[in-house]
Amino acid sequence: MTNQFITLQQIDEAADSIRARTSYKPRVGLILGSGLNALADSVRDAVIIPYADLPHWPRSTVQGHVGRLVIGVLEGQPVLVMQGRVHFYEGYSMAQVTLPVRVMTRLGIPMLFVTNAAGGINPEFVPGDVMLITDNLNLIGMAGANPLMGPNIDELGPRFPDMSRSYDPDLMQIARNVAAENKISLREGVYCGLSGPSFETPADLRFLRLAGADAVGMSTVPEVIVARHGGMRVLGFSGISNKANLDGSTITTHEEVMEAGKVITPKIETIIRGVLRAL
Ligand code: HPA
Repeated sequence: MTNQFITLQQIDEAADSIRARTSYKPRVGLILGSGLNALADSVRDAVIIPYADLPHWPRSTVQGHVGRLVIGVLEGQPVLVMQGRVHFYEGYSMAQVTLPVRVMTRLGIPMLFVTNAAGGINPEFVPGDVMLITDNLNLIGMAGANPLMGPNIDELGPRFPDMSRSYDPDLMQIARNVAAENKISLREGVYCGLSGPSFETPADLRFLRLAGADAVGMSTVPEVIVARHGGMRVLGFSGISNKANLDGSTITTHEEVMEAGKVITPKIETIIRGVLRAL
C-alpha cells in the first residue's frame, strides 16, 4: 500500500489547516459512528469543514458516514466533532485511519469521546442498548495491524505506550452517573475491534464470546490506541445495533445497523451532553 505511514509534517499540515479556519480550541474530540451522526446537529456556532478540504485527511466512503468536521460548542464546551470516520476495510492504512486522532493530539485536544455501532455478543444485550466501553480486545492489532507500526513519531508519544487504562476511569464514572440520573440503562463491557467489512460467522462470534468480548465492531480500537499514545483521555460508547448471530439463526445487515442508530442516538447524546456539562 502506498503512503502507508503518515509523517509529522502531514499531521501538522492538516492541523494547521483546521487552525486557519477556526479560533476554537476544542477540549473534546468526538467521533460519531454509523447511524450516530445526528449529535453533530446540536453543536452551536459551528464551523463546518468537509474532510475533502483538509490535506491528507481520509474520506469516508460508507453510507451513513457524512464526512465532515463540525467544530463549535456543545453544553458550553468547545468540541471538534467528526461526523463520520474512515475504516481499515475501506482500504486505508492504519496510519491514515487514525490521522484525525493524531491531528487532535497536535491541536492539543485533551479528551477523545468515541462512539460506534456494534453487534451485541453478550447474551443480555439487546438492539438499542448503549454499552460503556470499559476495555477493548485488539484482535485486529494482534493480527498485525496496529496503527503505531512504522517509525515512532517521538513528538507524539513513546514507542511502547501503556494500554492498561485505555478508557479513563474518571470519565467512565461521570458517564455512569449521568446515565443513572437520566434513567438510561447503561451496559458495560469489552469492545472487540475487527477489520470487517464482512460480518462475523457464528464460529467467529462464539470464539469472541469465549475470548471475553461483549460487543464487536469494525472501528474504534485503532483510534483509541493513537489517542492513548498521544496522552488523550478516552471515553467510549457502543450502540448495540444488532444481536450477534452466535447460532446462525439470524442475519446481520448494514440497514439494521443504521436503523438502530435512531434509538441509540438520543441515549448517547444525553450521556455525552451530561458528561460535557460535568467536565
Ligand atoms: N459485527 C461487526 N460490526 C458491527 C456489527 C456486527 O454485528 N454491528 C454493527 N457493527
